[in-house]
Amino acid sequence: MAHKHPHADGNGARDMEINPIFSREPLTIPRYALPPGELDPGTAYQVVHDELMLDGNARLNLATFVSTWAEPEAVRLMTECADKNMVDKDEYPRTAELELRCVHMLARLWHAPDPPRTVGCSTTGSSEAAMLGGLALKRRWRARRRAAGLPADRPNLVMGVNVQICWEKFANYFEVEPRYVPMEGDRYHLGAREAVELCDENTIGVVAVLGSTFDGSYEPVAEIASALDDLEERTGLDVPVHVDGASGAMVAPFLDPGLHWDFRLPRVASINTSGHKYGLVMPGVGWALWRDEGALPDDLVFHVNYLGGDMPTFALNFSRPGAQVVAQYYNFLRLGFDGYRRVQQTCRDVATRLAADIGRLGPFETLTDGGDIPVFAFRVRDGVRNFTVFDVSAAMRESGWLVPAYTFPENRTDLAVLRVVVRNGFGHDLADLFLDDLRRALRRLSAQEAPQRTPEDAAGFSHGAEAKTTKTTRTTKTPGRG
Ligand SMILES: Cc1ncc(COP(=O)(O)O)c(C=O)c1O
Repeated sequence: MAHKHPHADGNGARDMEINPIFSREPLTIPRYALPPGELDPGTAYQVVHDELMLDGNARLNLATFVSTWAEPEAVRLMTECADKNMVDKDEYPRTAELELRCVHMLARLWHAPDPPRTVGCSTTGSSEAAMLGGLALKRRWRARRRAAGLPADRPNLVMGVNVQICWEKFANYFEVEPRYVPMEGDRYHLGAREAVELCDENTIGVVAVLGSTFDGSYEPVAEIASALDDLEERTGLDVPVHVDGASGAMVAPFLDPGLHWDFRLPRVASINTSGHKYGLVMPGVGWALWRDEGALPDDLVFHVNYLGGDMPTFALNFSRPGAQVVAQYYNFLRLGFDGYRRVQQTCRDVATRLAADIGRLGPFETLTDGGDIPVFAFRVRDGVRNFTVFDVSAAMRESGWLVPAYTFPENRTDLAVLRVVVRNGFGHDLADLFLDDLRRALRRLSAQEAPQRTPEDAAGFSHGAEAKTTKTTRTTKTPGRG
């Protein structure tokens, strides 16, 4: 876990000695205090640059879902827009227009019944988009309850225990009871029946994930929606669905056009995605869309009179960089439907091929095959006793590969896996190099006597697939009113 405060002692507190690179005078600067004086810009740049040399190589980071490569033209546009604040829509009306175009493109891509009536906005990522989606659900539920003269003080949100950490944050920050459906046997994500069993009159919505952070699998959104239709027919409870399509909402439209997971399902009220994942933009952009104005209560929208214009905004932040939104529009324009399909298909081809090859190595068993989002999880077979997934993760780090290893949540805490995220820029050639290094690591690991690494060694390296702090809810209660 990150330190809340700088180290009080040890090396961390020592002043930094600046080497006389470029034959400049040696000097020292404090590490955790604002230096009293100025530095030459070249020296300051070199200090920062050198410190960052020890970061991992982003392209070899198979843990993150976030883009680690962009076309030079996208990077150039981002540099050109580095000074634009997204919130100043009146000052930068063209940037605001590009944001609007992106929302409309996504509305059509996700089959909104009436795209011009679809409302949406850019965000910093899927986490902020999830907060906004959750808030809209909570407000709609509250308004309905109050209108009916019913108490509205105990909202809950139903989701699989595999949801990304942002949903736990939403529940915590906005005081909504999280109801997690545990994993069971080979079901590593939310099931329709299990979701409905946890719904009651205080359920603000169900979150269905298209592309689980734990193993890359799609949750059965259509089945969940249909089970909720059935619930409404039986009990009158009308529970909306929010689809967390952080990754999948930018994969399924291109590769699985027949899969019904989006606004084609009338129960889907809102969808989020990360522009910076399979939207192919560098870190810093997400999207939240609501089916229509009815799905986004107007009392959540702020009308800010800023720099002389009326600006409706729905966001947690005020200031935010505009560069990523511009890069998103560039990507949409540059790639179009066919380009996105080609990129995502290549990622899927690499993922499914790599998963199959890993499965054939012998000691591993794949849980998913990379055929939903291009992400797969694999574990060490039961008979292997002398190394763990944590040993494999550590061994691969020695060759520069960052492959997270983590334990699954309830009720599969017995299961520990490694996960590979295949992104644009990770082609067949890098996959071959990865396999070569994995084979080499296996030769050494197979010769060791006993496992060397434990889950604790891997703490903080699961990239959103952390265990939940709230216990999962198990109930056999028949859903219904009261
Ligand atoms: C399913 C899912 N939801 C939400 C998030 C959070 O997204 P972001 O990093 O864009 O805030 C992630 C990140 O991996 C994710 O996989």
